Amino acid sequence: MKTRVIHVDRDRPDAAAIEEAAAALREGKLVVFPTETVYGLGAHALDPIAVQKIFDAKERPANDPLIVHIAHIGQVNQCAAGMPAGARKLALSFWAGPLTLVLPKKSDVPDLVTAGLPSVALRVPSHRVARALMETAGIPIAAPSANRFSRPSPTMAAHVLEDLDGRVDLILDAGPTDIGLESTIVDFTIDPPVLRRPGGITFEQVRSLVPEVIVRTGERGVDEPQPAPGQMTRHYAPRAELTLYEGAVDAVRRRIAADVRSMTAAGDRVGILAPEEDLSALAPELAGRAASGRVETLPYGSRDDLERSGRELYASIRALDSTGVAKILAVGVGAEGLARAIHDRLLRAADGRVRTIVQE
Ligand code: TXA
Ligand code: MG
Repeated sequence: MKTRVIHVDRDRPDAAAIEEAAAALREGKLVVFPTETVYGLGAHALDPIAVQKIFDAKERPANDPLIVHIAHIGQVNQCAAGMPAGARKLALSFWAGPLTLVLPKKSDVPDLVTAGLPSVALRVPSHRVARALMETAGIPIAAPSANRFSRPSPTMAAHVLEDLDGRVDLILDAGPTDIGLESTIVDFTIDPPVLRRPGGITFEQVRSLVPEVIVRTGERGVDEPQPAPGQMTRHYAPRAELTLYEGAVDAVRRRIAADVRSMTAAGDRVGILAPEEDLSALAPELAGRAASGRVETLPYGSRDDLERSGRELYASIRALDSTGVAKILAVGVGAEGLARAIHDRLLRAADGRVRTIVQE
């Protein structure tokens, strides 16, 4: 299959391009489109043959259910059998936006979409291109992130091409996405409702409207249906072995410097992923090793601008990984508010390798 890339304006997408993409979706083809979170790999959600192509293209296990994207709250009842009051409150406040609601499923939604679960995950994206596409297509669109299974989610079309060139029909390229981390998922099929994946809508925002919500983003066996992403631990994993460092800022910097010294002495090439302040602080220490190519560094945003950190995280992981380093040392930024989502993704990428450094 030849993959076509069409560039579209992120605010005023060309109507002919949108019409072409919408027609392709209605015909059962695969179309990659931007959302405000990450790029999605879309197919007609009510057409099981089209949906199967998503699993094939991504090499995604069939027990990992897909999110169904709709144009507005009025389309919920096409896919869901009901909407509890708390879910409605969240939808009215945060749709269109980076929020996914898990609701009881209607039988019109193929079991393939939901991995056989009796629930369906729904989201109304706010990105202009996604909205134009859904309004024009007039159908619900199943779309996971447009990466190969276990790779970081794509925040730009170049990432999609790295993973899916020749495997999808069309890519709508509207430049980098705004949020850079996948949507917040709240499950309303159990009582109390559960935050299953933190994202751009924070736990604190959800709790302000639904005080009974609890957090559960834990691991499961690979053979069970996956009620939230990343339970399979390599979900967000780079090729290099990533270790997450967290704790007191200065102590973490000192430990990173010491670990880089011993790792490079042992012959490893090492990458450092950290907020820009941390890289500046480490620069004098690392200069020699960076010049000789033994250390690669890449920032992800700043401690003072976590929105930028979220936006840049996956691109920086991909870029660092593509330098071929054997190990990545990643510096965390806490776990409250927006940092909760960043922390969650770093934890998954680290696959259990976490070092908590306390002030000495
Ligand atoms: O921001 C996003 O949510 C992006 C963009 C493209 O919209 N999509 C995305 O999809 O991140 P994906 O496939 O990478 O993650 C979807 C996750 C699944 O891994 C699954 O765990 C959860 O949503 N999910 C889907 N259906 C579910 C259900 N019925 N119950 C619980 N969780 C569900
Ligand atoms: Mg994904």
